[in-house]
This record gives sequence, structure tokens and C-alpha cells, in this order.
Amino acid sequence: MTAPLKTSDAITVDVALGDRAYDIIIGRDVLGSLGERIAALRPGARTAIITDRNVARHWLERTEAALARAGIASSRIIVEEGEGSKGYAGLEKVSEALIAAKIERNDLVVALGGGVVGDLAGFAAAILRRGVDFVQVPTTLLAQVDSSVGGKTGINSPQGKNLIGAFHQPVLVVADTAVLDTLPLRQFRAGYAEVAKYGVLGDAAFFGWLEANHADIVKGGPAREHAIATSCRAKAAIVARDERETGDRALLNLGHTFGHALEATTGFSDRLFHGEGVAIGMVLAAEFSASLGMIAPSDAARIERHLAEVGLPTHLQDIAGFAQEGLADADALMALMAQDKKVRRGKLTFILLEAIGRAVIARDVDAALVRDFLGARLAGDK
Ligand code: GLY
Repeated sequence: MTAPLKTSDAITVDVALGDRAYDIIIGRDVLGSLGERIAALRPGARTAIITDRNVARHWLERTEAALARAGIASSRIIVEEGEGSKGYAGLEKVSEALIAAKIERNDLVVALGGGVVGDLAGFAAAILRRGVDFVQVPTTLLAQVDSSVGGKTGINSPQGKNLIGAFHQPVLVVADTAVLDTLPLRQFRAGYAEVAKYGVLGDAAFFGWLEANHADIVKGGPAREHAIATSCRAKAAIVARDERETGDRALLNLGHTFGHALEATTGFSDRLFHGEGVAIGMVLAAEFSASLGMIAPSDAARIERHLAEVGLPTHLQDIAGFAQEGLADADALMALMAQDKKVRRGKLTFILLEAIGRAVIARDVDAALVRDFLGARLAGDK
């Protein structure tokens, strides 16, 4: 269903994973219900909240108060903001603090933050005492629609992102959409790229609805809850049928093969947020699909138009300093993509489009075709 909700009632999305099933609670001010939900789920549990300095400033006291109202003891573990915390040193700090806080097997870790905090806290919970349950309280749009759902947790190695990790599903996700009101617009838009991705990869009606309602999603009207719930339902359905990414879950990587290479080439810096890389990557995947005759060029153009209208970068040339710094090199980008997804005998795995709403996993894409396509895009050809 694609009509916006008329009420501000919380929406529950079920992630159907058998004995590891869990609910995603989505709505304005649902953070206030965190304590009672945890008390119902795990009576008597103590909690440790892992968050970063910036999120702590805005939301930690409110989270602690919600837990205290339900009689739940909590301790706080605060890491520095940013990707730098998601490494071995950050993991050691958090793990030692969890042990010092006496978090035991029946207790809960609460991840309060964006993707970095969720991945780090989830992984620390996965390995603490051989596994402690955790609750995700995502505070960015990207975390609410993607990283807090599905159980991918981990840290970065000096050799690459997310190379150390575990599948560890949360026992509850509480996504308070009012928290997004204070998110900087650029970060909100970057998260929006992942929302649009669900329409592009599997739900043409949702994509059409986004074209008509994106302004209300940004403003914080009821369309926001509907967009987040629809995104979570789409992700939950894919995760439920392929938790460990042996098949369909790879569809969620639409736009990510190109996107990751662009993030790597800009040093995973603020020059290109993850979602911005995904937006450009999605347009490239659509245009590449069109160049192979798989999708109508007008559909690729429609995807580009929508993302641009939302204010996202959609072309390689939109990345600040990209051309001047000599990064605009198709062979360098190909080398980065090969590292990410592994070229096997000159063939790459890509998520391509047969239509808006119909993505496919293409496991035998000729690397030479991708290189020629990128070369043409870098030269500014259409
Ligand atoms: N973010 C992609 C996935 O969870 O599989």
C-alpha cells in the first residue's frame, strides 16, 4: 500500500526470522516508550547505552529517562563521533566498558545513534560473553531505513570497511521519527537515497509515491513515517528470505558497487556521504542498465530526475573537486570496484535494472563494458 498514513500512531514492522524475529517500532516520540517496551521484552534486564558525543548531547538524557521511568537501570558509554570509532580501538573501549558496567548474558546493549554506533555496539554485543542481545535506537534516516535492520554488525580493518563483523540481529528496533527533525539536511538527504533505493529495486508504486511526497518526508509530515515503514518492510522481507546474503539480499546493494568505489576514492570523507555515493551509484547502475538495453533510457532519466529534485548529487561531476584531483580515472575506479566485489576472470557482480521496481543480480558483467561506460561518463557523455 502506498497511501500515506493519516494518524501519528506508531507503526510496527515485523522482521520474520523465526525464533530471532523482532519488531521495528516507527513513529513520532516513540523513544519515550523505550523503557516499557524493553521491560515487557526482557523483565529485570539492565542496560548499557552506547552512543556518540553528538547524539548524547541531544538524546541521551531522554533515553535514560525513558528507561528509568520503567525501572530499568542503565549505564552510558560514549564514543567519539564518526567512522574513526568503528575500529579495533573503539571496540576495545566499548567492550571493556560493557564488562566494567557488569552487562551480563541476560542484559541488553542499547545502540543509540547512526550507522557507526549501531554497527559498533551491535558487534560488541555479538562478542561480549559470546553474545548479548541488543536494541537498536537509530537516530539518522539512513540507520532507520537500512543499517539498524537486518543484523549486519562490524568494524573496519585498516585494510577495508566492515571486514570484521558478525550477523547479530537486534531484539527490537525503536525508530523515533521526531529525532530526525534535528538532523542536518544534507545527512537527511543522504539517508533518503536508501529510501528511494527500495522503490527503484522492488516497488514501482512506492517510487511514484516518493516522487509526489518527498517534500513532506523531509518536512516531517505523516509521509515520513510511511516512507520509513515501507522501506523497513521491504528490507525485512528481503532479510527474512536471505539473512546471510547468499542470494536476494544482494539486491540491497543496488548503487553500492559504484558508490563504494566513489566513497573510497574520496577517502570516506565528508566530501561524499555514503548515501550520496549510493545516489550517484544508483543513477550509474540505471544508466549502465540502459546502455545494455535492459531498461528504457527514460526510466534511468526518471530516477536521476527524482534524486536530483530531492537535492542529491547524481553525477560523478557533482562530487566536489572530483575532476581537478585526478580522481576521474576509469581504471582507478575499476580497481576499487574489483577490491569491493572481486572481479572473477574479467566478470563483475552488479545489481542492474530491468525496470523501475525490478532489480536483478547480474553475476557475469563484462568488466570491459563497465570500464567503457565509466570512461564515457567521466568524459561527460550521455
Ligand atoms: N545494507 C545492506 C544490507 O543490510 O544487506
